[in-house]
Amino acid sequence: MEDIRSTDWAANVKDVFDTRPRNGAHDNVVWVARVKEEHNLTDYLTKGGHHICVSGPTGSGKSSLVQTCVARMISKGLYQHAATVQLTNQSNFNWELLKKRIFIASIESIPASKFTKLRQKISEQLAPIIGGAANITKTFLLERVSDITKNWDLHSICSFISSIGIILILDDFEKADDEIVGAVSNMLKVMSQSYPGRIIIVGTGDIYSKLIQFDQALDQRMKALTVASMGTPKESWGFLASGFNRLNLSHPGSRSRPSSQSDLRDAIDLVHDCANGLLKSLNTLGQDVSIGALRGSVSLHEIEKASENMIYMTLRQFRAQYRQLHEILMNHGEAIILLKHLIDKGITSWFDVEDIIDELHHWHPNEVIRFIDILVEADFFVRSGTDRNVLFVVKPTMMHVLGTVISKPQKYRSQYDSFRSVNQLSFLFR
Ligand SMILES: Nc1ncnc2c1ncn2[C@@H]1O[C@H](COP(=O)(O)OP(=O)(O)OP(=O)(O)O)[C@@H](O)[C@H]1O
Ligand SMILES: [Mg+2]
Repeated sequence: MEDIRSTDWAANVKDVFDTRPRNGAHDNVVWVARVKEEHNLTDYLTKGGHHICVSGPTGSGKSSLVQTCVARMISKGLYQHAATVQLTNQSNFNWELLKKRIFIASIESIPASKFTKLRQKISEQLAPIIGGAANITKTFLLERVSDITKNWDLHSICSFISSIGIILILDDFEKADDEIVGAVSNMLKVMSQSYPGRIIIVGTGDIYSKLIQFDQALDQRMKALTVASMGTPKESWGFLASGFNRLNLSHPGSRSRPSSQSDLRDAIDLVHDCANGLLKSLNTLGQDVSIGALRGSVSLHEIEKASENMIYMTLRQFRAQYRQLHEILMNHGEAIILLKHLIDKGITSWFDVEDIIDELHHWHPNEVIRFIDILVEADFFVRSGTDRNVLFVVKPTMMHVLGTVISKPQKYRSQYDSFRSVNQLSFLFR
C-alpha cells in the first residue's frame, strides 16, 4: 500500500516538475510566462515568411517555448500541424537519416481525424515514388519511409511539408554535423524561395552563425531569438511555489502557513543560490524537495538541504571545467574582470557584446573582444547571432554556482573546500 502511494506521488511530482520540454499551451501545465520571448516568437510566427532560429544556454527553456508558441498558433488555426525532429549524437545521424525522421515526424504529426482529408494531397506529392496509390494509410507510408526518402530532394521535401501545412521544428541542432548544416541551410533557402513553409531551428551553441556560414543570404530570411535564464529571484521562487501549490504542499510563504517573512526571504535566497532563473535546475530542485514531502509540507530546512546538495553536485560535476577555467584565468588575468562583470550582470542571461564593450570602457574594444574570444575558444561561452554579437554561457549551472560561491565564500566554504580547483578559482576573485 505504502509503495503504491509513493509511486503515485512520485509520478505526480514528476508531472508538475517535469524535466522534459513542456507545452505551456495545455491548461494543466505549470508555465512561467516569458513575456518578451513569447511575444517575439509569436510575432515572428505570425508575420512575414522568415524561418526562425532559437538559441540559448542549455536548459533555458528553448524547446518548451517553441512547442508552446507553435501549439497556440495551431489552436488559432494559423498552422495545421507541427513536426518536431530531435537531432542526436548517434554516429549514423546523417542527412539521409534526418530526411527519414522529417518524413516520419510529418506523418505522425497529422491526427488520424485529419489524415483522410489530406490523403489525396499526400498521395499526389509522393506519386512519383509510391505510384499515386489512392487509399494510402499512415502505416503504409511509415513502412515505406526508406523508399520515399531515398530520392527525396530538397524541392520534394519542401513541397511536401508546405503542401500539408506542417511547420517543421529541428531541435538540438547543435548536434548537426557539417553535412546536415549544409543541407539544412539549402533547405531553408529552397523553402523561402519557392514554398510558403516555415522551419524553426532550435539549439544551444552557435547554430545561427553556422547556418549563415553556408549561405550569407540566409541572414535576410531568418529571425534569431535568444532564450536565456528567466526573471528575478522572486519569479524563480514563484515558479517553485506554484508547483508546490499544484501538489497541495504548504511551503514558506503559503497562505496556510503563517510562517515568518524571513522564512520566505531565506527560501528565495536559497533557490537563487543554486538555480536562479535556470528552468531545468528549478524543476530538478522542485522534484527533489517535493518527492520527500509526503506529509503535505515543504520546510525551509528541506529547501536548504536540496539547494546545498545541488551546489555540491554541480561543483563535483564540473571539477575538470573549473580547473580549466582556473588555468585560463591564471594566464589571462584581465579575463577575471570580464567574468566578474558578467557574473554581476547575471551570468546566465544573454549579453550584447557591444553593451559589454561600452560598459568596460576603460579597455580598448579589441581587448574586450580578445578576452571574450578566449572564453569562447575554451568553450565556456558562445558568440551567436547575426554579427556574433550575442553572448551566452555554455554551462549555465557551472557558471551560476561559481558566482554563488565567490559571492558568499563564508556560507559555501564547506561545500567547495573539498574541491581544489574551485577553491583556487574562488581565490582569484577575492
Ligand atoms: N516557461 C516555462 N515554465 C515552466 N517550466 C518550463 C518553462 N520552460 C521550460 N520549462 C521546463 O524547464 C526545463 C528546461 O526546458 P527545455 O527542455 O525546454 O529547455 P531547453 O533550453 O530546450 O534545454 P536543452 O538545451 O537541454 O534542450 C524543462 O523541465 C521544462 O519543462
Ligand atoms: Mg531543448
